[in-house]
Amino acid sequence: MANRDPIRVGVLFSDTGVTSTIGRSQLQGTLLAVDEINEAGGIDGREIVPVSYDARSSPAIYAALAERLIIQDKVNVIFGCYMSSSRKAVLPIVEKWNKLLFYPTLYEGFEFSNNIIYSGAAPNQNSVQLAEFMTANFGARVYLIGSNYIYPYESNRIMSDLVLQRPNSKKVGERYVELDATERDFELIMADIKATQPDFVFSTVVGDSTASLYRAYAEAGFNPKIMPISSLTTSEAEISQMGAEIALGHFTAAPYFQSINSDTNLRCLERLRKRFGSECVPNMCWEAAYFQTHIYASALRYTGQDDIGQILPNILGSEFEAPQGRVRIDPMNHHTSLYPRIGVANSRGQFTIVREATRPVHPDPYMVTHSLGDWTASLSTLEL
Ligand code: ACM
Repeated sequence: MANRDPIRVGVLFSDTGVTSTIGRSQLQGTLLAVDEINEAGGIDGREIVPVSYDARSSPAIYAALAERLIIQDKVNVIFGCYMSSSRKAVLPIVEKWNKLLFYPTLYEGFEFSNNIIYSGAAPNQNSVQLAEFMTANFGARVYLIGSNYIYPYESNRIMSDLVLQRPNSKKVGERYVELDATERDFELIMADIKATQPDFVFSTVVGDSTASLYRAYAEAGFNPKIMPISSLTTSEAEISQMGAEIALGHFTAAPYFQSINSDTNLRCLERLRKRFGSECVPNMCWEAAYFQTHIYASALRYTGQDDIGQILPNILGSEFEAPQGRVRIDPMNHHTSLYPRIGVANSRGQFTIVREATRPVHPDPYMVTHSLGDWTASLSTLEL
């Protein structure tokens, strides 16, 4: 008789705490893909059953729940994590038990684990493009602001290295705030920005405090037309928290924006709205969560088993027609070929895409080239 046993998968995002807005969207991306897979007959008639916990934006809780998923719930695969601190906490757990983590978030790069698939952007797929764009359009004196943990430290270091390759460049300031920072916590930083007059700000602030930063910036009277904030983490989700007026004119680099006008994206958004209504806010991390689940399911169809020894060879090198374009998991470094884009926040709380790669960019998580490079060759040149 055919095997009808459901296949349990672990789902570990944050429904509460400082990164819950983006975490909820990642959960919705995962659950939408699971629904689609099950509605299409599952894996040879076997249903995928998500076992989901709220990791409450805490790396320690991520680690504890990852172990619980593996030991008690007996999953082989976990979809999860937003902050790099949570991925770093889960990494030794999946390595110890030889399980697989699918991580749907842009991060600082410089990491490889045989037990992780990285479906968000590496620095050569967002930082390089953003540095090139901001320095070409605004100048090369940068002020760095980040949340107080590993991704912002490392991402700011990479951005500094890239910007400082330009003539007349300078790092005019670098400041960190706690993850629960409020508008008041940014006051001294705003005064420092006023005094140092950078050409642009690079923000690696994440979660709820993103809205506080952009509000403090507007309150201080800075004009984004002259001195914008640029970011890799301010997505449609964070804009929904701060409001479109506050975000207007600031820049973000990402492989996916909700505003991508392709059939694949529009159809996917329609299915999402049908499933979750209008309170969901699709963004780059939602999209990565969505397509990585389909990549897993496609590999599972070949093997029927999701233990790492069976499934990993079928994940590596696999491709999927994602809302951003056709993506591919690199067999050597477990990261994903993606389409860099740059968007400017508009009055509808969406991004107007001002640059986009016409070909996917191969992931280079160790920034082997570490240069500004020439991505303009693969761009459609939409005007600002
Ligand atoms: C992040 O911490 N990777 C956004």
